Amino acid sequence: MAEKTWVRMVTAQTPTNIAVIKYWGKRDETLILPVNDSISVTLDPAHLCTTTTVAVSPSFDQDRMWLNGKEISLSGGRYQNCLREIRARACEVEDKEKGIKIAKKDWEKLHLHVASYNNFPTAAGLASSAAGFACLVFALAKLMNAKEDNSELSAIARQGSGSACRSLFGGFVKWIMGKAEDGSDSLAVQLVDEKHWDELVIIIAVVSSRQKETSSTTGMRDSVETSLLLQHRAKEVVPKRIKQMEEAIKNRDFGSFAQLSCADSNQFHAVCLDTCPPIFYMNGTSHRIISCVEKWNCSEGTPQVAYTFDAGPNAVLIAHNRKAATQLMQKLLFCFPPTSDAHLNSYVIGDKSILKDAG
Ligand code: ADP
Ligand code: DP6
Ligand code: CO
Repeated sequence: MAEKTWVRMVTAQTPTNIAVIKYWGKRDETLILPVNDSISVTLDPAHLCTTTTVAVSPSFDQDRMWLNGKEISLSGGRYQNCLREIRARACEVEDKEKGIKIAKKDWEKLHLHVASYNNFPTAAGLASSAAGFACLVFALAKLMNAKEDNSELSAIARQGSGSACRSLFGGFVKWIMGKAEDGSDSLAVQLVDEKHWDELVIIIAVVSSRQKETSSTTGMRDSVETSLLLQHRAKEVVPKRIKQMEEAIKNRDFGSFAQLSCADSNQFHAVCLDTCPPIFYMNGTSHRIISCVEKWNCSEGTPQVAYTFDAGPNAVLIAHNRKAATQLMQKLLFCFPPTSDAHLNSYVIGDKSILKDAG
């Protein structure tokens, strides 16, 4: 029975990403195919990231997963889809030092244990599903010696959570919605790497780390079913914005970048209000942050800071440079002193804001 005692483990770390042109709405719920392209920026893994360890052993009698120390069920379609897709691409693994040899066909029978930890609030609108599923797929691919590149892996991570496909790359990333019915061309590509625009500084103001009431999945399903604004946004607005955003990023044009990011975040939250029943992801503190940034940008004549809010009340603030970031911090601390009721729980400051690829 000695041969039954080995365990092979792989640990990966993946940063989260925040969309500056949002994904909101699926045209296929099972394959997770979106109604529009989206663009995001990948954050610094030193601040917001998922760490996932995947293990395989002949002594495991079922697949199991723990998230932030608590066991969760793997029976959901999203986990099953990711596991199935990676298992189908598994290759032979040989570790001579440990005396482990796993043949390609063995992966069908072997069970997995997964332990994942987010170093930031889970399900609170800071894209835990993005970092989580990207990390899971990346770690499994390494464990099983799958040969796929990051774009091919992104199409698998997409089937765990749409936004996850963009976390396989650093820098600015585009999720191409694709046309194929089987979803094979719905994947992420890197627009520019983390060095391209490294003067940007990203500050996250944590307004609330509580779990949101409406998950992104449920929220966007309701929006697709009931919001006319969503149809207009997907067909008429986003295609133009995607082109303009790509130009702004390529040219490091902060004025256009800020204008497009803020407008897109506001339109996404307008779609949420246009949903029946309406969804309120932002709260009064989020609105005050928007006013504070808008007033400042207006008084400067040219934008210094862009804001964007995902499906939650927490603000992601992108400053033009370190000087603007320092001024922003002063303004936030003035508007939300730590002693006030509406104080912000924490600020996460990216030193080097946009960072590396998965793993
Ligand atoms: P968020 O805004 O944080 O992305 P979502 O509603 O989109 O919130 O998704 C939250 C869900 O994502 C969690 O309930 C869980 O199912 C999944 N998730 C979060 N973190 C991880 C992780 N590290 N590994 C696997 N799945 C995760
Ligand atoms: C507002 O990727 O979390 O953050 O695909 O159902 O898992 P599922 O949803 P998810 O939605 C993210 C929505 C968003 C915008 C974005 O990240 O583009
Ligand atoms: Co999510």
